[in-house]
Amino acid sequence: MERVMGGVVPLVLGGLGLVLLYRLLQRLQQGATIQDTVVVITGASSGLGRECARVFHAAKARLVLCGRDRARLQDIVQELTAADSQRQQMYTPCMVIFDLSDTAEMVAMAAKEILSCYGHVDVLINNAGISHRGNILETHISVQRDVMDTNYFGPIALTQALLPSMVRRRSGHVVVISSIQGKIAIPYRSAYAASKHATQAYFDCLRAEMERYNIQVTVVSPGYIRTNLSLNAVTWDGSKYGVLDKTTALGREPKDVAQEVLKAVRHRSKEVLLAGPLPTLAVYIRTLCPALFFKVMASRARKEQKSKDE
Ligand SMILES: NC(=O)c1ccc[n+]([C@@H]2O[C@H](COP(=O)([O-])OP(=O)(O)OC[C@H]3O[C@@H](n4cnc5c(N)ncnc54)[C@H](OP(=O)(O)O)[C@@H]3O)[C@@H](O)[C@H]2O)c1
Ligand SMILES: *[C@@H]1O[C@H](CO)[C@@H](O)[C@H](O)[C@H]1NC(C)=O
Repeated sequence: MERVMGGVVPLVLGGLGLVLLYRLLQRLQQGATIQDTVVVITGASSGLGRECARVFHAAKARLVLCGRDRARLQDIVQELTAADSQRQQMYTPCMVIFDLSDTAEMVAMAAKEILSCYGHVDVLINNAGISHRGNILETHISVQRDVMDTNYFGPIALTQALLPSMVRRRSGHVVVISSIQGKIAIPYRSAYAASKHATQAYFDCLRAEMERYNIQVTVVSPGYIRTNLSLNAVTWDGSKYGVLDKTTALGREPKDVAQEVLKAVRHRSKEVLLAGPLPTLAVYIRTLCPALFFKVMASRARKEQKSKDE
């Protein structure tokens, strides 16, 4: 037994060392170039999507920016092109306006429009999303469905509609901005957490199915980011929550997260978890010691209810 252990321990340590060295080398490498690639970003009118637009534009990508709000999309296009007048050889982003919660047919029509911008798509960044605040007892099923439509059915309809062209070219990259709530569920956000768990599962399946076509899939799972996400969240009856949560206000800067997205595209990462040590630990505890995770979440639910009752 001792002799077996004596062989196993150095083997494991050596293996770990090799993995760390490999990851370090990966980090040091620049990765694939972004220049001239066609990058589609949904939800480009605010928050993380808008920062991704800035970051990928600076990397000289050809952008297709999507959202519902034409005026705010125009603002960002104007900002990007205004900065270009001093620099040469930049592209003017293409804009495609559509609602992800529309029918799959409408989303497929938007996909056609997206393809017509540059004839093909290299990178699709499924970023648009909406959050939910409200308890399960009160939240209307229609709200549960609406959040699912925007966060899950819309993005998968868009992805499916753009895939055939990527498959034909044997090249492409699909990124999805999920959330740490795609891995652990936090009380009073049931619709959101459920939509992100569904997202994680779908894109894990997609990654495996697309490998033979040389199409990459990246699931990005951030913790809190300082955006208007909670302000724009829907409550139990579908009305706007309209509160900038403290947790969100104290979150990471969207421009830092956008840099991480760029890095993930360059390095073709399969999965990126962008959370602090405590939330990251929670992801592992959910798997390794679920009873403890459930206790912590129940206490969090009690506390949040209490603060609402006061
Ligand atoms: N903020 C965080 O703490 C956090 C943490 C983890 C993950 N995330 C994820 O990050 C992504 C970006 O969110 P954000 O934080 O940047 O929030 P945000 O500022 O509220 O931006 C959401 C974007 O999604 C678009 N959108 C919403 N509903 C849509 C619909 N039905 N059809 C088309 N576009 C729609 C909005 O554009 P229009 O209004 O123009 O349609 C907007 O550009 C989301 O997937 C979110 O779940 C955020
Ligand atoms: C939040 O919304 C306000 C008002 O629409 C907007 O001016 C601001 O740019 C938004 N912030 C982010 C980070 O998207």
